[in-house]
Amino acid sequence: MTSGKHGEFESDASSESLLARAYGLKTPEDAKGLYRDWAKTYDHHLENGLLYLGPKKIAAMLAEGLEEKSARIIDIGCGTGLVGQYLVSHGFTHIDGLDFSPEMLAVARSKSIYRELIQADLEKPIDLAPGTYQGAISCGTFTHGHVGPGAIREIFKLLAENAWFACTIHGHLWHEAGFERALTQLQDERVMTIEAVRDEAYFDGKEPEGKFCIFRKSPV
Ligand SMILES: C[S@@+](CC[C@H](N)C(=O)[O-])C[C@H]1O[C@@H](n2cnc3c(N)ncnc32)[C@H](O)[C@@H]1O
Repeated sequence: MTSGKHGEFESDASSESLLARAYGLKTPEDAKGLYRDWAKTYDHHLENGLLYLGPKKIAAMLAEGLEEKSARIIDIGCGTGLVGQYLVSHGFTHIDGLDFSPEMLAVARSKSIYRELIQADLEKPIDLAPGTYQGAISCGTFTHGHVGPGAIREIFKLLAENAWFACTIHGHLWHEAGFERALTQLQDERVMTIEAVRDEAYFDGKEPEGKFCIFRKSPV
């Protein structure tokens, strides 16, 4: 990638190397360390260096399903709040965020988008009341070295009947890490229905590496 499209931005190589570091994570400690180092420059690298489109696209998918603008929504792996910013532009007014990185949460907090910011590890049971949310969203969190498919069942517990959940899952992990199997099982158990799965690019000009999904929690 060259820096020509965004002339003032000179560290595109650094953006690519940080992305490679993100995709090479092996342990939760590695992930926490990466996001601690990256938090302050993350938005700049993602938006200006890598031309990140994921948050805009997945927020639009949630808005296709969830019509109630005052619905309570949780942004899972909210990071610095890029997804929250797009949800606000769709008119949503009650957004909470969850992430395990205090540094990423601090940047999100500075934007005053989220009502509550919850520091929690998605690889453990989530200590929030069942049925709280009418919407959930997650971008870039089900990816290499990040969060596995077990968290998806936990997220559905947080959702009310008929709630919508839009998320991205890295295409390379769809079969390999068991996401497709976990989602099919949740549908077979009538926990939720798979409304749409689209192959889309996370980054402008790149291959469609992501599965952009929207699910609906079933009524009991
Ligand atoms: C690629 S960033 C995506 C942030 C934001 N959603 C976006 O699209 O810009 C992945 C986020 O997942 C968080 N994360 C990774 N593993 C996690 C875990 N086990 N529990 C909670 N958050 C986690 C990281 O701290 C980071 O903020």
